[in-house]
Amino acid sequence: MAFLLGLDIGTSGVKALLMADDGTVRGSVTVEYPLYSPRPGWTEQNPEDMWQASVEAVRQVLEKCAVKGSDVMGVGLSGQMHSSVFLDEAYQVIRPAILWNDTRTSGKCQAIRAALDPEMLFSEVCNPVLEGFTLPKVVWLRDNEPENYEKLRWLVQPKDYVRFRLTGELAMEVSDAAGMLMMNIRGRKWSLPVLQGLQISPEILPPIVQSAEVAGTITAEVAELTGLAEGTPVVGGGADNACGAVGSGVVKQGRGMISLGTSGVVLAHLVEPRLVRTGTVHMFNSCVPDEFYMMGVTLSAGLSLSWFRSVLGDSAQSYDQLTAQAAESPAGSQGLLFLPYLTGERTPHGDGDARGSFVGLSSAHSRGDLTRAVLEGVAFAFRDSVELLRSAGWNGTALRGIGGGLKSALWKEIIASATGLAVERLNIDEGPAFGAAVLAGVGAGVFANVPEASDAVVKVVDAVEPNPVWAKTYEELYGLYRGLYPALKESFHRLAELQ
Ligand code: XUL
Repeated sequence: MAFLLGLDIGTSGVKALLMADDGTVRGSVTVEYPLYSPRPGWTEQNPEDMWQASVEAVRQVLEKCAVKGSDVMGVGLSGQMHSSVFLDEAYQVIRPAILWNDTRTSGKCQAIRAALDPEMLFSEVCNPVLEGFTLPKVVWLRDNEPENYEKLRWLVQPKDYVRFRLTGELAMEVSDAAGMLMMNIRGRKWSLPVLQGLQISPEILPPIVQSAEVAGTITAEVAELTGLAEGTPVVGGGADNACGAVGSGVVKQGRGMISLGTSGVVLAHLVEPRLVRTGTVHMFNSCVPDEFYMMGVTLSAGLSLSWFRSVLGDSAQSYDQLTAQAAESPAGSQGLLFLPYLTGERTPHGDGDARGSFVGLSSAHSRGDLTRAVLEGVAFAFRDSVELLRSAGWNGTALRGIGGGLKSALWKEIIASATGLAVERLNIDEGPAFGAAVLAGVGAGVFANVPEASDAVVKVVDAVEPNPVWAKTYEELYGLYRGLYPALKESFHRLAELQ
């Protein structure tokens, strides 16, 4: 039997997954690496850690699944979006990567908006200028670490860096290139008007490759390190959300996905590009050639619950125990609302200084009420994204669910009830690593093309529908939730200034 390897270079670690050529998952291994926060709002990781963890994860998954490297027909990569890997002339890493959820660049975003004609900018990059994207990180490097900027020869993202280490070929894959704010989205080429307008050399950007295109092959040295066979094709791969869409069959117009990991995403596939100017909706290239997707991103989704458990709860408690307490609290958490803006917010506010809040706390509230309010606050943040996708023309009635947070039946029902959409469970819940393996299969010629392959292997198993009683309560509470950010915005900004 032949196999395909998917590698997802995530924020907490690397997941390596082996898929058989009939689309079944043979097994997976995750190897973690640290995240550093040298200052409030800053998040960084070492690309070398990503590489070492990738080697380890590949070795371990081959061993665990008892698969020979020579039986792996292709490798695909997926990874955290937007994070910057800065390389010098000798392809050495200059400084730690600045991550997608780092908010140090608020001032740089303003400078970019001020320097460029807004119509030109939006027409090129089709997205708002937000802290997490890659372009403001380059401007930050130039303004704050000129000695490092001086050395900058190449700019890539985590999965493209790992592909470089696997193959020796440097390239940027299109769905991740889209999240840099440096690419003309509709033309799939680096945007000279944007780059030249900011005096950034287009030379720092490697060639753009397609997601399922073979972008290099495993080198002899890497074969030795990992157990893969020299010459195995490695495809471009895709951004984690784009690969999540492939791995959940969201490859056709009208289909939607919800992902509940560290961040939360609501995504809708588009056959044609759609320019959405409101509420910081993102529009990027999909892994289906020449197609797109739009999405809303809430930065602290799963992160809100893990933060709550470690800081306000009991780290020894399992998530099941924690959510069991929340299930004892009624819908609406006895009059308590939570804003999940622990690391600022992208959709709908685009505000790196927004912060989390409990509103309505009383001495009568229990830990279960607080926990439920966290789950509900994240669900309302998803509702914000759903509303925006709806106003941009998406008319789906269900979302295919992926990500660890949706393993909670309670959270799933809360989200279905707050958004009014069924949340579907799939036969395969392996997320982006699985999508990356599907892309490898297309590149290796095992599957004909991305949408056919994804559609053939991913099936909806069941769905959680909105609970009508909760939905009624949430409808009212959502109105209140929506009023909170505008009421608190000035306070958030004043607090940020005082830091
Ligand atoms: C998407 C985004 C996050 C990361 C998480 O724009 O920033 O979802 O991709 O890895």
